[in-house]
Amino acid sequence: MINGSISAPVKGDWRDELLRYFGVDPTASWTTNVWVWTAIAFLFAALAYLSTAQRSDKERYPHPLPPRSTLGLFETLEHCNSIHFHEWSLDLARNQGKIVEYNFWPLIRARVIAVNDPKVARKILENPESSKPREFYDFFDGLLGGTGFISEEGDRYKHPRKSVSIGISHSNMDDMLTKMHAVMDQWITDNLGKNQGDVSNIDITVEMEKATIQSIGKIAFGYDFSTEEIERTLHNIFKIADEFGRACEKNPVRKSPIGVFLWAAKREASLCVQDIRRLVQNVLEAHQKKSVDEQKKVIVLNELNTPGSFALVELAKNKDVQTRLRQELRSASADPTDKKRLVDNSLLKRVIRETMRLWPVAAGGGARVIPQDMVVTSSDGLGGERLMTIPKGTIAMMNSYPIMRDKDTFDRPDEWLPNRWECPSQDMNTAFFPFMVGRRSCPGQLLAMSESEVFLARLVMDYEWSLVKETQPEYNITLMIMGTILQAMKVG
Ligand code: HEM
Repeated sequence: MINGSISAPVKGDWRDELLRYFGVDPTASWTTNVWVWTAIAFLFAALAYLSTAQRSDKERYPHPLPPRSTLGLFETLEHCNSIHFHEWSLDLARNQGKIVEYNFWPLIRARVIAVNDPKVARKILENPESSKPREFYDFFDGLLGGTGFISEEGDRYKHPRKSVSIGISHSNMDDMLTKMHAVMDQWITDNLGKNQGDVSNIDITVEMEKATIQSIGKIAFGYDFSTEEIERTLHNIFKIADEFGRACEKNPVRKSPIGVFLWAAKREASLCVQDIRRLVQNVLEAHQKKSVDEQKKVIVLNELNTPGSFALVELAKNKDVQTRLRQELRSASADPTDKKRLVDNSLLKRVIRETMRLWPVAAGGGARVIPQDMVVTSSDGLGGERLMTIPKGTIAMMNSYPIMRDKDTFDRPDEWLPNRWECPSQDMNTAFFPFMVGRRSCPGQLLAMSESEVFLARLVMDYEWSLVKETQPEYNITLMIMGTILQAMKVG
């Protein structure tokens, strides 16, 4: 009989418990546990080595390194992939400092910092040796099947970037404007009233995105999207942005190849990617049959959203500016066929500039690898100035939203005041870069600016815009105001 022979688990003091936790039998002689003791000794030696390595790393630099954010890895991941990322990045810059280290270790081994000081950010971007970090753009690579026009450096990067630029060069400007007006004419006919007093309600983000897809197709690649293709592309873009832009970035398992087996939403988004790639391939094949192989690597998925929707919302809220803009537009183009004169209108330019400052579509901005140790001065969360070293190899993230709301540069930074651009200071101009700057800045900026000017001018000249339903901007690769409804009334 074994009755009474099963002993209760041995309970000792906490030291014995700890030893048992590591697999050591505290009652056995030390020679019995020699391998376990050796392993523990190695573990402590490694920890001691790592902490000295970290210290000597810090001692290597003449000035302190950027301070660490108070948030841990999981909170950082949560915020960086949230629809409120823009607000959080502003909060970080205002309350913890303009240059702060993120806690991404061990997911990203390099040091990752937010650089939301406009002057330092510009200096990093303008350095021709700073490169784009793969770690930050592999999301696009995943979508493109390994040929990212955003993440690539060297030879591979040159091809995709060149092929995006075909249709959007300065020399194409006249042609671009004519085509933009044609897209706008069609959009107005399809969506807005024809007689004075006619009223229509518009879901402004969705409609502007549709018009933008149509204009990019027509202007850059001479391609007419069908209504069905546009609807499908919009659906695909939103699904892709939700899955790859947010859900996968928060969860490394979902992001890995096995995520496709575990999450139905990831499978669906992958099909959307294939669909969009097929469409882009058609566009490019139609555009230039002779170099299809090279061109099919390109996908124009980025920034389809337009600053025009934010500008219309601000104008709907600021009727006095809207009325003045309409008057100026009408007097500037007494001759309605003189379409180019519209874009020279100065209030129009100020409205667009201020909208892009307050509501930068690419609110996340850009990221770069620092090519050599940099010594910079930046203000901390309490407003004090401090010198710091940004070590070579650091990944710097320049976020447009906090940079263009910098309190030390802009008066009343959170307000929409187009007239601040009547006579801007040097610092204001330095801090304004919604497309980033330098050799890897946005190649589509001319197209995007011209499109915003033409769209806005055409929409404000003959229609009065009022706010029916306002929603808060959300960040999902780009900043958007989904669900905001505006009313357009035809004016005489
Ligand atoms: C308002 C509209 C737009 C905004 C605010 C915007 C903004 C940006 C920003 C901030 C970047 C990152 C640049 C960097 O890291 O330095 C970028 C990259 C890029 N944009 Fe745009 N963009 C817009 C429209 C467009 C359009 C219409 C196109 C093409 C037709 C385009 C094509 C690209 C490409 C190809 C890149 C990658 C450049 C590279 O990595 O070398 N963008 N854009």
